[in-house]
Amino acid sequence: MKFFIDTANLAQIQEAQDLGVLDGVTTNPSLMAKEGITGKEAILQHYKNICEIVDGDVSAEVIATDFQGMIREGEELYALCPQQIVVKIPMIKEGIKAIKYFTDRGIRTNCTLVFSAGQALLAAKAGATYVSPFIGRLDDISTDGLSLIEDIRQIYDNYSFETEILAASVRHTMHIMECAKIGADVITAPLSAILGLLKHPLTDAGLAQFLADYNKGNK
Ligand code: E4P
Repeated sequence: MKFFIDTANLAQIQEAQDLGVLDGVTTNPSLMAKEGITGKEAILQHYKNICEIVDGDVSAEVIATDFQGMIREGEELYALCPQQIVVKIPMIKEGIKAIKYFTDRGIRTNCTLVFSAGQALLAAKAGATYVSPFIGRLDDISTDGLSLIEDIRQIYDNYSFETEILAASVRHTMHIMECAKIGADVITAPLSAILGLLKHPLTDAGLAQFLADYNKGNK
């Protein structure tokens, strides 16, 4: 299972990279804006900065919603770092055409804003490298995001699609664990949700006891 961090915050990306378990980064225009990164040049430079911190895949999202615009922007993003950049394309009709275009040219894609199994099927047919179902946003509207991951897993397994299921809009540590049980290929999560995997009160209590006992005997 791959772990991606879902942020444009360089300090958090560095912290996750230093942990040694990071496989990549996902961003989106909202995450960029949250870090105060605005304007085309600043955004392109920020992607380059992210690629310098991590070794793995970096999803970089197109803003255009027409086919030609997506191709132009996607090629520009890809050229920033061809080994790492995955062009992130929205699940719309023009987006499916763009995914097919990039697939045919060996450029990897991440189909974003996926909320149904039918959309995920279409993304796989177009050859997307990753499909990003947004589980947290489905939970927000009282729809079970995790059951969407189960449905996509079943469909992809039925037909041996190679598209990887990238569970996105992960909000907490339990989402990560449930995705792992279902068999999502990748999760992208905030740093807090990844670090949440570390936590158990018995670990903390056990360590405190070990240290206290050591100190008793070594005074
Ligand atoms: C990642 O690719 C998505 O853009 C992201 O996970 C969306 O998360 P949100 O629903 O918390 O904004």
